[in-house]
Amino acid sequence: MGLELYSHIEEMFLDKEAADILWFKFLEILKHLNVKNIIDIGCGNGDFCILAQNSGFNVKGIDLSKNQIKKALEKGCECEVKNICEIEKNFECATAIFDVINYLNENELKKFFKCVEKKVTKYFVFDINTHYAMEDLAIGTLKAENENKFAVLYSEFDDEKLITEITLFEKKKNCYIKKQNSIIQYYHSLETIEKSTSMKLKEIIPISLYGSADAEKLILVFEK
Ligand SMILES: C[S@@+](CC[C@H](N)C(=O)[O-])C[C@H]1O[C@@H](n2cnc3c(N)ncnc32)[C@H](O)[C@@H]1O
Repeated sequence: MGLELYSHIEEMFLDKEAADILWFKFLEILKHLNVKNIIDIGCGNGDFCILAQNSGFNVKGIDLSKNQIKKALEKGCECEVKNICEIEKNFECATAIFDVINYLNENELKKFFKCVEKKVTKYFVFDINTHYAMEDLAIGTLKAENENKFAVLYSEFDDEKLITEITLFEKKKNCYIKKQNSIIQYYHSLETIEKSTSMKLKEIIPISLYGSADAEKLILVFEK
């Protein structure tokens, strides 16, 4: 998948205001749950990890992308390139923020939840994208450029999957290097998620990051 390529253009497309809405909502939920030790699965470039550390949580980040972990380490986030199934320590709570769960297909989702269930003692808090967000909002073309990079994202929703083709032209000396890859996000209904885990759904929090009247994401709180 193109998650490694996406890590090289993320800052060109990330809407920081929208991300802040989501991250601060997660912080509010974690404070309310009264947990301290957290594993942030898919910590990305470490922004949430640092926010949570500064709010008094003990956070460990993991991500599958080397480039994301490099950026997160530079910011001071304690993290490593690891799959949740390889983690030995236990945590009170796990988080998976901003699309992480939607990158998993139904089979991967079941294995992923099994590993999370072994590692957390209390809660798993994560977001999933709504059908509306994937079918109506995310489709189409986005372009962005800076001094050295020109990137295009083209997304189509079909058969309950959002496929995003990434094209990046990166300037090296006097020429541009073209890189292409794709990312698939799978739509999961609440029923599918609940069927994939033995944890109990405690709370559903609808959230809109881009001002839509309909929710774009659901934050789900599962309890062990
Ligand atoms: C859109 S980014 C979000 C990053 C961060 N959570 C945030 O809120 O900014 C999704 C991240 O999840 C990572 N990822 C995707 N699937 C993963 C998995 N199964 N385990 C760990 N990381 C994963 C990707 O490499 C990427 O860095």
